[in-house]
Amino acid sequence: MRIKNITTLIQSLPFGTWAIPAFNVFNMEFAQAVVGAAQDERSPVILMLGDPILSFCGVDMLIDICESVIAGATVPVCIALDHGKTEAHLIRCVEREAAIMYDGSDHEFEANMSETRRWLDIAHQHGLSLEAELGSFGAEFDDLASPESRMTTPEDCARFISAVPVDLLAVGVGNYHGKYKGEPEIDVARLREIAAAVPTTPLVLHGASGIPADTIHQCLDAGVKKVNFGYDLKFAFADALRRELGRDPMPTQPPAFLAPARDAVRQVARDRIRDVSSNGLID
Ligand code: 13P
Repeated sequence: MRIKNITTLIQSLPFGTWAIPAFNVFNMEFAQAVVGAAQDERSPVILMLGDPILSFCGVDMLIDICESVIAGATVPVCIALDHGKTEAHLIRCVEREAAIMYDGSDHEFEANMSETRRWLDIAHQHGLSLEAELGSFGAEFDDLASPESRMTTPEDCARFISAVPVDLLAVGVGNYHGKYKGEPEIDVARLREIAAAVPTTPLVLHGASGIPADTIHQCLDAGVKKVNFGYDLKFAFADALRRELGRDPMPTQPPAFLAPARDAVRQVARDRIRDVSSNGLID
């Protein structure tokens, strides 16, 4: 069943140390794999649509595909805009009743607050939840940025949330998108301080591909309620495609190479669902 508001979804689930897994999806195969994994594991799930894929295929095309996949689901599934920065995508996602993440991280603090306020009001007028971003982890790791400069502070979170009480807050605690260079260094102590500074706001951990399950668990314990995965699934899809297309003779019927790629994504999504302990949350 389709859910439009992540706050409502969180509140409908039993109290406990779990997070809702959110996966970037790009096409029918990803949507089927992620919803299939959620069904296998009896977990709620979020299908995240990022700006680049929406520019590639159009908001309506991808939401239509997701809605069609969700139609047969018996677990709660939310379609959500991920790192929304493009006005046209934000507007169309609101019209199509996707949950919204507004990414104002390119702006200075004050401008991020005022732009987020604008999108929070629009999202709430439509019954949709809104996630905001404080800190910097949107781009893949940039050697020029010092780790400290990418971190979110508890003080900024408290100031932001008292002015703009968003539904979910994504923070930077050593996490970033894409493949980690070496072991991820997640500052769980900082995460706890942030959670104490904004005790009623569920936190979001982006860039979770490559973060070990026990570290993810410490993050859940600290107050994270949504965990985003993208790279792990993209790698599984591409790796399976490379393997299948490398066979001799090369398969030319698309289902022959797309089915194993879809299966690979489904298996990784099942593993990540268990990593956030959302398996079995749904009867
Ligand atoms: P990864 O691709 O690093 O898992 O991050 C995904 C993400 O945070 C999407 O917002």
